[in-house]
Amino acid sequence: MSVLHVLGARPNFVKAAPVVRALEGLGVPQGIVHTGQHYDALMSDVFFADLGLPSPVANLGVGSGSHGKQTAALLIGLEELFEELRPSLVVVYGDVNSTLAAILVCAKLGIPSAHVEAGLRSFDRSMPEEVNRIVTDSLSDLLFTTSPEALSYLAREGVAAEKCHFVGNPMIDSLFSALPSLDPAPVVSRLGLPDRYAVATLHRPANVDTPEAARELVDAVIAVSEQIPIVVPIHPRGRTRLAEAGLVDSGGLRIVDPLGYVDFLSLVRGASLVVTDSGGVQEETTMLGVPCLTVRPNTERPITVTHGTNRLVTPASLPAAASKALADGASTPSGDLPPLWDGAAGPRIARVIASWLKGDNLSPASRAVSPEKPL
Ligand code: UD1
Ligand code: UDP
Repeated sequence: MSVLHVLGARPNFVKAAPVVRALEGLGVPQGIVHTGQHYDALMSDVFFADLGLPSPVANLGVGSGSHGKQTAALLIGLEELFEELRPSLVVVYGDVNSTLAAILVCAKLGIPSAHVEAGLRSFDRSMPEEVNRIVTDSLSDLLFTTSPEALSYLAREGVAAEKCHFVGNPMIDSLFSALPSLDPAPVVSRLGLPDRYAVATLHRPANVDTPEAARELVDAVIAVSEQIPIVVPIHPRGRTRLAEAGLVDSGGLRIVDPLGYVDFLSLVRGASLVVTDSGGVQEETTMLGVPCLTVRPNTERPITVTHGTNRLVTPASLPAAASKALADGASTPSGDLPPLWDGAAGPRIARVIASWLKGDNLSPASRAVSPEKPL
């Protein structure tokens, strides 16, 4: 097998699908390993079906646990598998623990690796994802970036320019592919929603892991639900804590299981407002032109603010921001959508990988890290 894609969590599947499809088109031998970080059918299987991803060659079934336990299980499982399969290139996606573990195993076994969605930075190391991003980028041999500023962040961290390729956003390729199927009406009717509604997704540890943070957030979401009915497809991470804080089916709040990809984006497409702390949803709302309020102090995706419909809010400012967004509708400050978010990122990535596999490999010099700019 030439190329092994390591996928573990919901957003990984969405980012990988266009790359897998484009490599298939070029006839590159490949396979998917599912780490099992996400395992509920609604967090995993439904994405393979909706995105047309081929079945994994292996599922490591690592499941949930603390960062240490989960990452340790990932390291052990991936090391055994990579030793057995000896892929020519491992491709990892995004910033989840499966991404970090795969890149560490590659580095230790001397297996070349590529990172899709490199160079995003929130500059907030209290986020587990930021740690995963920095380590992953520092160890990758090929880095594919979705946003122009990522190249300068990588350069600043000492990553050689010849390893980096600005290719656009494969998550947006998936959105483009799904667009003809995105019809809000059936899902709106199934969930018993009115024509005008908002959608919320909340799962960041900083928002849902302590009773205090959960209570502050839920109070704000309830205040928004007094302005417009809100449907919340609830991520399993926050389910219990947010329910204890009062996020329950009542009044203008509708709490449902996580939705499949096509159902979720259909709902977002028809929404008047999205409230989120998801990375991917900030990007998708920008492309769909739906106002998005991100309940976080920072974003690693500032382009969704400068070139999209995204605004950062705190729980305290959320109700007033929602009221304004509902009155104003979507507005994009620059008027231009993010560059290269054009549905062709997957083919760009596949072309670079195919040419790399043909022997246009990185020279040892380009893989070296400059001592003047230590990582
Ligand atoms: C992970 C990623 C996060 C990403 C998110 C996407 C890390 C460190 N975090 O967060 O960056 O935004 O995925 O959704 O990798 N659970 C289930 N069923 C599942 C999966 C998880 O019930 O199928 C529950 C378990 O209680 C688990 C908790 O969710 O302990 C957290 O899961 P985990 O994969 O550790 O992190 P996420 O919060 O999902
Ligand atoms: N998503 C979905 N169903 C849901 C919530 C999200 O299909 O109920 C999709 C969403 O459209 C996006 C991806 O899941 O493509 C984002 O995943 P998530 O928010 O879990 O992770 P993040 O992007 O924050 O890492």
